[in-house]
Amino acid sequence: RTYTVGYFVGSLSSTSINRVLSKALIGLAPDDLEFVELPIGNLPLYSPDFDADYPPEAAALKASIAAVDAVLFVSPEYNRSIPGALKNAIDWASRPWGQNSFDHMPAAVIGASIGAIGTAVGQQSLRAVLSFCNARQMTSPEAYIHYSPDVFTPDGAVHNESTADFLRAFMTEFRDHLVRVLTVLPRG
Ligand code: FNR
Repeated sequence: RTYTVGYFVGSLSSTSINRVLSKALIGLAPDDLEFVELPIGNLPLYSPDFDADYPPEAAALKASIAAVDAVLFVSPEYNRSIPGALKNAIDWASRPWGQNSFDHMPAAVIGASIGAIGTAVGQQSLRAVLSFCNARQMTSPEAYIHYSPDVFTPDGAVHNESTADFLRAFMTEFRDHLVRVLTVLPRG
């Protein structure tokens, strides 16, 4: 069978290096994974006032998460933490109370930065949020991608063999992780 991975790109930038990374990951992933983006840029800011009646964009996000087997977060670090747009999307998906979309959901976290410690602190922040949301995170391997335009081209090609091998192994480990989780905790 194939497994559907919903992926979040944590950046709204039209030139996002994390979007490039997401393309690279999709290109290097095992054949039994299919990918669907979970868009975050069209969501209003979350308020509990919406809990009784979610706007269409937020209802669509929750429906899309319900339809996938696992979620992948490909995100920059903003000020050593989670970009606001991504946190907003997570907040929407985690509510209304009792209808947390991430409950027992297989998940993985990765990110790229032009800085030397490439999203390590931001990923810890994201992992803390996903822990509270009760997502079943892959804890190892971790992946802190130092972005270089010599290695990644905008279409997602990876021009460095060891980087490509690393990203391919990351996605293979994620496939194995999500299959293990789904064996114990089938979805739907
Ligand atoms: C950044 N950047 C950044 N980089 C980093 O390694 N650690 C950080 O804490 C931050 N903080 C930060 C805050 C804000 C508001 C911006 C706009 C940027 C730089 C960031 O890594 C760089 O802009 C990347 O290109 C962002 O990823 P995307 O948007 O290209 O995917």
